[in-house]
Amino acid sequence: MTTEFADRVVLVTGGASGMGEASVRRFAGLGATVVVFDRDADGASRVCSELGLGAPMLGDVADSAVCSAAVNEVVAEHGRLDVLVNAAGTIHRADSLGTTDDDWRRVMGVNVDGMFWMCRAALPHMIEAGRGVIVNFGSIWGGVGSAGSTAYCVSKGAVHQLTKALALDHVLDGVRVNAVAPGEVNTPMLASERATPPSAEDLQALADATIPMKRLADPDEIAGVVVFLASDDASYMTGEIVHVDAGYTAR
Ligand SMILES: NC(=O)c1ccc[n+]([C@@H]2O[C@H](COP(=O)([O-])OP(=O)(O)OC[C@H]3O[C@@H](n4cnc5c(N)ncnc54)[C@H](O)[C@@H]3O)[C@@H](O)[C@H]2O)c1
Repeated sequence: MTTEFADRVVLVTGGASGMGEASVRRFAGLGATVVVFDRDADGASRVCSELGLGAPMLGDVADSAVCSAAVNEVVAEHGRLDVLVNAAGTIHRADSLGTTDDDWRRVMGVNVDGMFWMCRAALPHMIEAGRGVIVNFGSIWGGVGSAGSTAYCVSKGAVHQLTKALALDHVLDGVRVNAVAPGEVNTPMLASERATPPSAEDLQALADATIPMKRLADPDEIAGVVVFLASDDASYMTGEIVHVDAGYTAR
C-alpha cells in the first residue's frame, strides 16, 4: 500500500471536514493526486493549501449536473479517476413528526441522491479503464436504526443498499464498491443541527452509555479503513459494509 497510490487519482466529496478531510490527508500522505470536492469553500481551501493540493472543486452534491461536471473535470485534467470517496453528508435530528418536506428532501438530496449522482458520473470512466474503486460513507444508523433521526437513518440504509447494488452491477467491470459504516466519530457533524452543541462531558457521557470502547473515534481511525478499502489489499472485497464502530453493532 505504501507506493500503489503514487500514480492514482482520488476524488473525495466532503473533503473539507471530518472523515472526508482525514481521508484526504491519508491519500495525500501516500502520494496520491487528491481532488477535494465540497460546498464549504473556506474549509476546502484550507485543506488543499495545507497539503499543497490543487484548487478544490466547489459545489453541492445534491445537484446531478454539478456532480457530472466535477467528475468529467477530474478526468479531463488528470486523465483518470481511480478512487471515488463519497464522504459528503448531512443530518436532521428529529423524528418523523419533526421532519418537514424540506428537511427530508435535504437529507435525501445530499446523502442519497448526491452519492448516486457521483457514483453514476464516475462509473463510465472506471469501466472504460477496467478498474476503479468507490468507497461510500454509510453509518451504524444505516443498519440498526436510532430514535430521533428518521431521515438520516433512512438515507444511510439507502447508502448501504446502493453500495451493494452498484457492487453487483459492476462486479465484472473491474470496479469495486464498498462502504464504511462508522459509529460515533468526533467531527463537526456531532454538534451540527443541535440547539446547543454538546460539551466534552456530554460526548464522554454518550460514549460511556452507548459505545463498548467508551470513547468516540478519531476521524483518522475511519480514514485508515477507507484507504484499505481503496487499496489492492482489498481486491477481493466488494459490496461490503464495513462497520468501524468500537463494537457498537456487535451487541
Ligand atoms: N460523525 C459521525 O459520527 C458519523 C458517523 C457515521 C457516519 N457519518 C457519515 O460520515 C460522512 C462524513 O461525516 P463527518 O462526520 O466527517 O461530517 P462533517 O460535517 O465533518 O463533514 C461533512 C462534509 O461534507 C460537506 N457537505 C455537506 N453537504 C454537502 C453538499 N451538499 N455538497 C458538498 N459537500 C457537502 C460539508 O461541507 C463537510 O465538509 C457523512 O456522510 C456522515 O453522514 C458520520
